[in-house]
Amino acid sequence: MNHSDEIHISSTAEEYKKLGGTASSRRSFLALLLSAGAASVGALLSVPLLRFLLHPLVKAKTQASWKEIGSVEDLASVTSPVKKLVKVEQRDGWRKIVSEKAVYVCRDANGHLCTLSSVCPHLGCSIAWHDDKNKFICPCHNGQFTAEGKLLGGPPPRGMDRLESKVEDGKLVVHYQTFKQLVPNKEVIA
Ligand code: FES
Repeated sequence: MNHSDEIHISSTAEEYKKLGGTASSRRSFLALLLSAGAASVGALLSVPLLRFLLHPLVKAKTQASWKEIGSVEDLASVTSPVKKLVKVEQRDGWRKIVSEKAVYVCRDANGHLCTLSSVCPHLGCSIAWHDDKNKFICPCHNGQFTAEGKLLGGPPPRGMDRLESKVEDGKLVVHYQTFKQLVPNKEVIA
């Protein structure tokens, strides 16, 4: 190999290096562009997916469902609290659970029909009406309430929770809700 050959090889290496550098930059730019494109598409696709995933949670909070208790005619004879079962649909994540909940139909101070939750505001046991004692008694810690649900004594921090109810087409319907326990004021959970 003579001197001129050495010079030629050296200049070709320089050019290759230069070309290599340019191609590498172009590749980096394309990779960046592709990443940005993929990120944008991902973000766009995630919006409906997020809406789908959150839908049951959002809906559970906004949905008010009224459940039939019975005809007003049949309940006309109610003078002391009467236990009734209502079918309630609840969402546990994406599962729909239908269960029966006990409520009490009673008369308020004005003689109107009212509905009380049977769930004790202390620790959630089922409160029972005792006709012979003319009061509600919670079997767990002896919380006691009047026929209208007012607290008489025991550890519960408040009276029984009154549920929203109304008459529709001759039927008494109730909006079943659950409330926070161990707090003095009624706070809706679901
Ligand atoms: S759960 Fe009812 S008094 Fe404690």
